Amino acid sequence: MTIHAHVVGWGKAVPQRVLTNDDLVQMVDTSDEWIRTRTGISERHIAADGETTFSLSLQAARQALEVAGIEPSQLELIIIATVTPEHAFPATACLVQDSLGATRAAAFDLSAGCTGFVYGLSVAANLISASVYENALVIGAETLSRITDWSDRNTCVLFGDGAGAVVLRAGDAEGGVLSTVLGSDGSGGDLLKLPAGGSREPASHRTVAEGLHYLQMRGREVFRFAVRTMPAATRQVLKQAGLEISDLNLLVPHQANQRIIQSSARALKLKPEHVFSDLEWYGNTSSASIPIALCDAVEQGRIHRDDVVVCVGFGAGLTWGAAVIRWSMPELPTPPSRWKQLWHRVLYRYAALRSAVRRFLRWLFALGVKE
Ligand code: ACO
Repeated sequence: MTIHAHVVGWGKAVPQRVLTNDDLVQMVDTSDEWIRTRTGISERHIAADGETTFSLSLQAARQALEVAGIEPSQLELIIIATVTPEHAFPATACLVQDSLGATRAAAFDLSAGCTGFVYGLSVAANLISASVYENALVIGAETLSRITDWSDRNTCVLFGDGAGAVVLRAGDAEGGVLSTVLGSDGSGGDLLKLPAGGSREPASHRTVAEGLHYLQMRGREVFRFAVRTMPAATRQVLKQAGLEISDLNLLVPHQANQRIIQSSARALKLKPEHVFSDLEWYGNTSSASIPIALCDAVEQGRIHRDDVVVCVGFGAGLTWGAAVIRWSMPELPTPPSRWKQLWHRVLYRYAALRSAVRRFLRWLFALGVKE
């Protein structure tokens, strides 16, 4: 019997604070007109103090679990794709695992630039198809604002913060994630990188003085890479699933630049109604862009049961990847009952309490050892 990985839940979280193009005009030498025409972005959401990759991930995860109607204790795997984790270690996924009370879940972070969510989806779907796990949570989450140089007009106009999540569940029915392709070309690693904070350039006064803790990008080269790889990966993943471009109902591409999205659509001869874009409202949220777009597409009624959806991305690494999903859920699932919502709230409070008690006991034990 073939096991299929179905997308059964989805959720997103973006910070409340909105930074418009006009706000950016006050900060760097740019204009609303330049940003709109060169990128298609009007505004982006920026994390407030205390809002982090972890907190956005948790919010998106809870929503996705609610839509899926499953308890955190049923999860066996949590993957967070991110280039802006809460810490270098422990993994942000472990923090989410603890806060959800997903006590049976393995958890790890994954770094594949803006392609990270597609990488995570591929790993989780393949583990489900191989009958290793039944329920997995895949999150793409970023707070790129924390590694953005707000005095560099070449990059600061592009990025935003947010998180998106999906729940994958094993099922016998045909559909779900039909095929995935992943690729990388490390020779382009220098085109998009965070120079300091790793083992080559540990953080120091010098790295901070030289601004090496900020993201650096050679935009034009990344642009060329993107318009080459996105159509190619889309064709390849559809072919691998035994499908044609004409079978595609909706392309959900990485939201980096409207010109990249339009160029890919032209190369694939797709009509605008078959391509999704919400870049205007979020900017480039890296690993979070595809799951946020997927949520918006469902909420806007752009995805229906049995639709063929392709998620395709490119990013730092350089990396690229695509996944074909045959949507197996009703577009608007019945919202959970008030009792179920209340029950989930109780579960999350219990998880927080249990975590606090464990921390306290660990602290008490450490105190005892010292004395
Ligand atoms: N406002 C006004 N002028 C600007 C701005 C700005 N915000 N930014 C750059 N310019 C200027 C440049 O200085 C340049 O001026 P010059 O000709 O006098 O030197 C001019 O505009 C044109 O610059 P280009 O770099 O050629 O502009 P381009 O049309 O290529 O657009 C952009 C730049 C938007 C960055 C584009 O190349 C792009 O989107 N690249 C892809 C980036 C991307 O997708 N990254 C995703 C990965 S992110 C990740 O993995 C974390």
